[in-house]
Amino acid sequence: MKLTIIGTGYVGLVSGACFAEMGNQVYCVDIDQEKIEGLKEGRLPIYEPGLDALVANNHAEGRLHFTSNLQEAMEECQLYFIAVGTPPGEDGSADLQYVLAVAKEIGSLLTDYAVIVNKSTVPVGTADTVREALQQELDNRGLDLTFDVVSNPEFLKEGAAIDDFMKPDRIVVGTNSPRAREMMHQLYAPFNRNHERTIYMGVRDAEMTKYAANSMLATKISFINEMANLCELMGVDVESVRRGIGSDSRIGFSFIYPGCGYGGSCFPKDVQALIRMAQQVGFEPQVLQSVENRNQFQKGWFGRQIRRHFGDDLSGLTFGVWGLAFKPGTDDMREASAKVLLADLMAAGANVLAYDPVAMETAARELPAEWFASGRLRLVDNQYQALEGVDAMLLVTEWKPFRIPDLDAMRRTMKQRLIFDGRNQYDPALIRSAGFGYVGVGRLV
Ligand code: UDX
Repeated sequence: MKLTIIGTGYVGLVSGACFAEMGNQVYCVDIDQEKIEGLKEGRLPIYEPGLDALVANNHAEGRLHFTSNLQEAMEECQLYFIAVGTPPGEDGSADLQYVLAVAKEIGSLLTDYAVIVNKSTVPVGTADTVREALQQELDNRGLDLTFDVVSNPEFLKEGAAIDDFMKPDRIVVGTNSPRAREMMHQLYAPFNRNHERTIYMGVRDAEMTKYAANSMLATKISFINEMANLCELMGVDVESVRRGIGSDSRIGFSFIYPGCGYGGSCFPKDVQALIRMAQQVGFEPQVLQSVENRNQFQKGWFGRQIRRHFGDDLSGLTFGVWGLAFKPGTDDMREASAKVLLADLMAAGANVLAYDPVAMETAARELPAEWFASGRLRLVDNQYQALEGVDAMLLVTEWKPFRIPDLDAMRRTMKQRLIFDGRNQYDPALIRSAGFGYVGVGRLV
């Protein structure tokens, strides 16, 4: 099949490369000319394990094409994926200007029946808005064409996106049109080899499914974080509680790891957007609001623990930060807990040495220049360099090389032997027996 994907961000690029790998002819379109030129030369705008090779192979084999000219991509194409960004507007609701601009552009060029697929995470009702925008363009051109708008949300985890795309738990397709459904069925047939994973439903149902899935996962995290805070005050070890409840098959072990809060491009944005959607229909979503509030609070975990130990004035103290990305396996720092922690440390006068295996460029680009200019925040070349002369080590992102730290090296390097473990990666007994102080999330002190 031939398909066009508009938007070569995270979702568009992963989807494009994976569809091409299945033998389709895929045109990836982006208005950013520089991005397109980079992609043609194998330079990817994002870090995702395995994606560079997948893109390079499929490009070389002539199945994956990059262009900034939508019209060129549209020749003999009946399937269009909209995968442009939907950043949060000022009030937290998703900003649809890019999605609608694409819908209009398609409408201004379309000459035959087409299926327009929303892959971007968009509020319930967006398929209708896209349909209207496109229809308007067709009307302007005096054309009487049929087309269908389908919702096909993605459920990709950064760092595991290719696997998630190739071996999905489920594929959600929202459409009321038998013709569009048949096209989607054919497109996804290779991903359904062993058993059918596609769940067909109404367009609005599919749009809501995406928000509900992410909000449910965020709820699990905020719930266990709330338990961890409570455990801290009640002399209970949350790790025992986690194991105790996770073994109940109705609860399960995934997404109940306590920590210094969830970040990333999806959970914070989607929970906030769903809250806004609810309020717009006159409904106060109490659970969602609490999930969001608990997460904001949780991102202050390091700050609270550090103050409890060192007091409010942190000037003259140095902290070694391990991990800046919002989670392992990505260079993404959107809504990362590390940002809240660093802001807190900078405001309290502390010095910071920070290291992340892949997010160093992101950090240099996204963190305020004055933090670097003051000389109080330094990015260093490896994890042990980040501990030279420090008063404490702060584990923010649980990258694999951080999981079994070299305690001897740390003993030699650190000024004070103290670990704040924001992801509960270490065994407190082991760390303490090696002569270190240890503070975990909801662990016994
Ligand atoms: C998420 C969803 O998993 C995916 O299905 C959706 O399409 C996009 O959003 P992603 O944002 O890439 O994917 O990351 P994920 O692995 O889900 O982690 C999100 C955040 O939650 C991270 O900051 C992580 O550290 C945190 N987390 C996760 C916890 O704090 N505890 C947990 O138990 C699990």
